[in-house]
Amino acid sequence: MSAQNQVVVGLQWGDEGKGKIVDLLARSAAIVARFQGGNNAGHTLVVEGKKTVLHLIPSGILHPGARCVIGNGVVIDPEVLCQELDALAAEGVDVTPTRLAISTNAHVILPYHRLLDSCRESARGSSKIGTTGRGIGPTYEDKAARRGLRVAEFLSADTRRARIEALLVDKNRQISEWFGQAPLSIDEVEAWAAPLAERLSAFAADTPGLLHAANAAGDRILFEGAQGTFLDLDHGTYPFVTSSTTLAGGACAGTGVGPRDLHNIIGVAKAYTTRVGAGPFPTGIGGEAEEYLRQLGGEFGATTGRPRRCGWFDAPLVKRAVLLNSVTHLALTKLDILSEHDELKLCVAYEDDAVPGSHQPQVPVYETLPGWKQDIRGARSWDALPQACRDYITRIEELVGAPVALVSVGPGRNEVISRDPIFEGLAG
Ligand code: IMP
Repeated sequence: MSAQNQVVVGLQWGDEGKGKIVDLLARSAAIVARFQGGNNAGHTLVVEGKKTVLHLIPSGILHPGARCVIGNGVVIDPEVLCQELDALAAEGVDVTPTRLAISTNAHVILPYHRLLDSCRESARGSSKIGTTGRGIGPTYEDKAARRGLRVAEFLSADTRRARIEALLVDKNRQISEWFGQAPLSIDEVEAWAAPLAERLSAFAADTPGLLHAANAAGDRILFEGAQGTFLDLDHGTYPFVTSSTTLAGGACAGTGVGPRDLHNIIGVAKAYTTRVGAGPFPTGIGGEAEEYLRQLGGEFGATTGRPRRCGWFDAPLVKRAVLLNSVTHLALTKLDILSEHDELKLCVAYEDDAVPGSHQPQVPVYETLPGWKQDIRGARSWDALPQACRDYITRIEELVGAPVALVSVGPGRNEVISRDPIFEGLAG
C-alpha cells in the first residue's frame, strides 16, 4: 500500500510561491522529485530569516529527512548543478548521493544550447518570447529530435566526446553561419564537461526504479512542478510558453511513476497574478498601480531579476488550471501583499466566454471587493483573518471550483494558515 503521494504545480505563469509549499510538504515526504524544466526555474525559500534560491535541486533538500530526485523529464545544466551543490555546502547543507539522485535518462544542457537560446532570442526581434536564456528550449528541441545527450552518455568520457564532436558540426554551422558567433571546439567543450561529469557521476541513478521501490515500501513521494500551467507547452499561451509539460500529468512521464500513484494534487496560485516574459496577460493593471503592487510584492524574477508584470486575480484562468491539473487542494499565496489596497478587483469571467490561455482575445469582467486594510502576517487561523479577507478567499474558491487548503500570509515557513489535514502540523 503506497502512501498518499502529492504533486505541487503552479496554476498561473510560474512564480506562484511553489517553493514554500514544497518546503512545507517535504516535511512529511520521503522523496521530493522534480519532473520537468531546468534552471529556468527559481524557487525562493526563506528559512529562519535566511533566503535560499534553488534553480535545479528540489526544494526538499533543506529537509535532511527527504531524498531528492531530478527526474528524467528535467534538463540538467551540469555546471549550474555543481554551483548549486557548492552553494548549499557553503550553507552547511549536506548534499551527498544518498540525498540527491539524478536520472541517467535526463537530458544535458550543453554550452551550445545556452548560446543558441540567446542568439535565437535576439534574432526574434520584436517577437521575443522572453526566455530565461538558460538553453532550456534548444535542449528539449534536441531531445524531441532524438539528437540530445543524456546523463548516462555525458558521464562516459568516450561516448561523450564522440557524440558531442559529431553534434558540434551542425551546431557550429548554426552558431557561425546563422548567428555570426565564434564556433565551439570539441576541446573547449570537453575541458568544461570532464570535471563536471566526474563530480556528478556518483549522483546518477535509475530514478524510476528508485521511485518504484519507495512506492512499494509505502514511502511518500512529493512531485515538485516548476513554472506554471499557462507556460505549459500544450495548454499554455503558446508560443509564449516553456518547452516542457508543466501540468501535474507531466509528473508521470517526467519521473516514470504511473498515474495511479499520483494522489493529492496541490495547485498553487498567487492571490493576484504575475507574469515574467512576453505573452498575453488579460488582468494586467498597468501604470502606477501596477508598480505599486510590484514593489509591495517584490515581483522581480528569482532567476533573471526581470520585473514581473502584475495584475488582478484571474479566476477563469485558475479555474481552467484546476481542471487541467485535477487539483484537489489549492494553496493561495501572498495574501499579505494585498493588505494595503482599499479595494480589490477580481476577474470573474471573460467577455464572450473566451477560452483561458487560448488564441481568443480575453477581455476580463471584473467584480470589486473591499480590501481589509489590516496587517494579516500574524494570523495563524482562519478566524484570525479579517472578514473582508475571508470573503475574498471564499469568492475565489467559488469561482475556481476547488477548496483553499492553505493560505500563505508572509514569506516565512510558519506564516501560513492551514485549512486541511494535509498541511496540519507542517508549519513552524
Ligand atoms: P524558457 O523556459 O527559458 O524557454 O522561457 C520561456 C518562457 O517561460 C519565458 O516567458 C520565461 O520567462 C518563462 N519562464 C520560464 N521559467 C519560468 C519560471 O520558473 N517562472 C516564471 N516564468 C518562467
